[in-house]
Amino acid sequence: MLNESLKLPCGVSLKNRLVKSAMTERISNKKFEPTNGHEQLYSDWADTEAGLLITGNVVIDRKHLESAGNIVFDDEKMLPKLRSWAAAATKNGNHCWVQISHSGRQASRFATRRPLAPSVVQLKKMGLFGKPKAMTANDIQQTISGFVRAACLAKKSGFTGVQIHAAHGYLISQFLSPNTNLRTDEWGGSLENRSRLLLTIIREIRKKVGAEFPIGVKLNSADFQRGGFTEDDSLEVVKMLHAEGVDLLEISGGTYEKLAFFVLNEEGNELRPTRESTKKREAYFIDFAKKIRTVCTIPLLVTGGFRSYDFCNEVLENDEVDLIGMARPFITNLNDMKAFLNGEVPYLQNKVLRTGIAQFEDSAEGGFYARNIIRIANGKAFKLNMSPLWCSIFLIFHEFRKAVAKKI
Ligand SMILES: Cc1cc2nc3c(=O)[nH]c(=O)nc-3n(C[C@H](O)[C@H](O)[C@H](O)COP(=O)(O)O)c2cc1C
Repeated sequence: MLNESLKLPCGVSLKNRLVKSAMTERISNKKFEPTNGHEQLYSDWADTEAGLLITGNVVIDRKHLESAGNIVFDDEKMLPKLRSWAAAATKNGNHCWVQISHSGRQASRFATRRPLAPSVVQLKKMGLFGKPKAMTANDIQQTISGFVRAACLAKKSGFTGVQIHAAHGYLISQFLSPNTNLRTDEWGGSLENRSRLLLTIIREIRKKVGAEFPIGVKLNSADFQRGGFTEDDSLEVVKMLHAEGVDLLEISGGTYEKLAFFVLNEEGNELRPTRESTKKREAYFIDFAKKIRTVCTIPLLVTGGFRSYDFCNEVLENDEVDLIGMARPFITNLNDMKAFLNGEVPYLQNKVLRTGIAQFEDSAEGGFYARNIIRIANGKAFKLNMSPLWCSIFLIFHEFRKAVAKKI
């Protein structure tokens, strides 16, 4: 099954069911453009023969960055660099879609002085996020235009689709959640109003890119916060996405406050994939996928925790999902991915850096993946043994350094 092709509603086909899900690369140049490092990374990922690669989030506005190393899709002048990145990323007949995002209140403090958000609800996490300004109607219109501009640039440069990032607590996800969207205008209140930004963006992009260009959405099953975006909300939004003719739905969960894909299962309980990872521990969002199947027929991609070949095939054969998404294994098990796809490697061992100090695990893990992405972008191999201390503080240094280099 993993090796079977899949036709999407817009008419395009993916050559198999394995997807490399988005991972932020943080390595853009001073002009927020892709570099040779991006080409190296995506060439390596294309060599895994995965049918679809999804880029790390690229943002629509250089004043609102998730990372000071983001690529910003806002200027036709960068087309030559985008074209050569897209060519490397699609060199094996695979697809590569651009994940388009706006960070909203989850903007790196080093890179974004005054974040924009649906409402003034600050993210309080180690003082790393600034107090946001509530968006005006004009800010919202500019954001919609920014998403459309980015999607058009993606198409023009040879990427084969786009994914709208509506998960993980970024701007669109902030609009969807009653915890962060306190607006009383047409963009807040009822679920219909909270979904308006996402639906308008999709509609406007579709008008420009046409019916045959794939548009996907990454959506949270829930954000695991009391009073936040729930599974029931998510199922209702899925119905709306179906009506809009979305080509692919990816399910994930959590926000910066609860990083579900690192540490939580769908009930919000702690779950860290381990070497002894069992089927039960795999695929945190699979139960929610079953519920989605009852309300829509949008092709479904589930990401988070998949590691064994048999389990991937089982859920595909049972028609629980259409595509299997993986992210971390494309760093930690890069050399095994092609053999995995061919059924020659039955299980992708989790390779994680552990500090042994609970407060540092998330930051160390984040630094560990970021450093390894940079290594692979530089043509080096994945490295397991790294200094836990340096990994824990790496991202703060990296972001600061990038922000200074770009004079942000
Ligand atoms: C280093 C890193 C960066 C990530 N960046 C993004 C991102 O830019 N956009 C996104 O939607 N998800 C991002 N994710 C989440 C992954 O796409 C994925 O949902 C998550 O890692 C769970 O899948 P896995 O268990 O196969 O790693 C990131 C994950 C990691 C580990």
